[in-house]
This record gives sequence, structure tokens and C-alpha cells, in this order.
Amino acid sequence: MQTLPIGGTNKPRVAQLLMCAPSAYDLLYEINAWMHLSNRPDKRLAWQQWRQLYQILTEQVGVPVELIEQAQEAPDMVFTANAGLPLPGKRIVLSRFRHPERQVEEPYFEQFFRAHGFEVYLMPPDCAFEGEGDAFYLGDLIVAGYRKRTDICAHRYLSELTGLETLSLELVDDRWYHLDTCFLPLGGRLVAYYPEAFDWYARRVIEQHFETIPVSPEEALRFACNSVVVGKHVVMPAGCPILRFYLEEHGYTVYEVPMSEFIKSGGACKCLVLYLLED
Ligand code: ARG
Repeated sequence: MQTLPIGGTNKPRVAQLLMCAPSAYDLLYEINAWMHLSNRPDKRLAWQQWRQLYQILTEQVGVPVELIEQAQEAPDMVFTANAGLPLPGKRIVLSRFRHPERQVEEPYFEQFFRAHGFEVYLMPPDCAFEGEGDAFYLGDLIVAGYRKRTDICAHRYLSELTGLETLSLELVDDRWYHLDTCFLPLGGRLVAYYPEAFDWYARRVIEQHFETIPVSPEEALRFACNSVVVGKHVVMPAGCPILRFYLEEHGYTVYEVPMSEFIKSGGACKCLVLYLLED
């Protein structure tokens, strides 16, 4: 396989975000522990929450946001973090969703990235991968979760493609089924994470590689780790004062957005955003 000439010590910088306004957002199936057909989102409130996130990102954080239109038959397409894993130089490794309910999104994202001039890479067949939901590109290494939505073969593919080491972290609790629900890279070697979401070995690997801020069970359940980080700005789900306190101590400017209607579907701020990197 061709290896991409990327890597080195350059820290990835977010140039733009990709978001999808919730015009067809709904809860029509149950594919994670948060989703219950008996607890569907209030669509008006979901719009308000999404808009508030969009406005904070564009107006207060000041990062450009690209939009993709939501397909009618894809109620979860708002969670653009799952589109794929962008790499520097307008490249993206597209997702291959675990569940057929979300596989319908794949052609829309593929078409979008091709139309926007991205070089598109596909996972090998039968190798599930859910993009930035389960993998973070940190410049000199990739950190990736597996078992729930992403198969470990995807990690091997990412390493072969980029020439970078992939730290593979096993997720052991169905409530934290994507890495971005329990692991928050904050820049440099600083991360916040919820230890109970990982097996003991993954916790050891995280502690060995990073300076860590542990997240409490109460705040993990409010999706504290599912925050958007752009430089020294963090946009986080409302109701996580302890993590907020630590972040402010570390010099971050923090914004809060209520995310109740997306948490019903198992997502919050970060799931609604895909980081598009500088070249
Ligand atoms: N309902 C969606 C699913 O189960 C939520 C996805 C959340 N995305 C994320 N990056 N954690 O697939």
C-alpha cells in the first residue's frame, strides 16, 4: 500500500469544521445504549442547540464552518465526526460504519469530500471504522478506540497509510462506544478522559503517553469529554463544572452549550463536528 508522506512532529491545526444542520435529525432506531425509541428528541430544541453550537464556533471561537446537507434517510448524519478521519493535505480516510442504519451516510460523505477536492482513502472491506468518533490524529501519532464501532484492523490500516504509530485503546463500556465520548485531546500531550470507559491496559497506555485530567462519572455521563477544542477554546456540553474548572486553570476559554436532544442519540458537541486540518 502507498504510504502518505505525513507525520513528524508538526501539531495538527484545525483550519475548518464540517457540520450538518439537523434538518432530518431524529431517533428512528436504537444502535447504542443511549438511544431509546421511547425517548425521541424534541426537534425544535435540537435545532436551537445545534444553532447555538454553530454560533459559538463561528462567532466566538471564530473558526470557519463548512456545511453538508442532511440526507432525508440518514437521521444520524448530523454527527459529522463519524464521516471519516481527515489528515493534513486535504486527505480523508472515510468511515465504514458498523451498523447498516448509518452505512447509508457513506456515499453522501464520499461525494462531499470528492467534490471538495479531497483525496479519499477507503478502509479495507469488512473493516469497520467510524472516523473521528474513534480516532484522533495528533501529528506524531494517532490515538484510536476499538471494539464497539471500529475494528482493530482499521488501526493497522491507519498506521500503514500514515507511517505513524496508532495507540489502540479498547473501549469496554457500551455507554462510551466511541473514543470521542470518553477521551478529549486538548493539544500537546494534555488530555481529559474517563478512565472507566477503558480496560486497564488502555488506561496504562494513556497514562504513559499523556498528561491526564480525569473526568468524574457524573460529568462523563453528561458527555464532558465530547467537547470541541480549537486552539485554546473549548466548547463543551452544559453541566460539567469540574472539567470546566480544570480547563480554565489550564488557560482555556470555555463555552457551554445544552446538548440534551443530541445526548438522547448518544452524541454531543464533538460528535456534531469534524475537524478539517491545515495543510
Ligand atoms: N446515534 C449515533 C450513533 O449511534 C450517535 C453518534 C455519535 N457520534 C460520535 N462521534 N460519538 O452512531
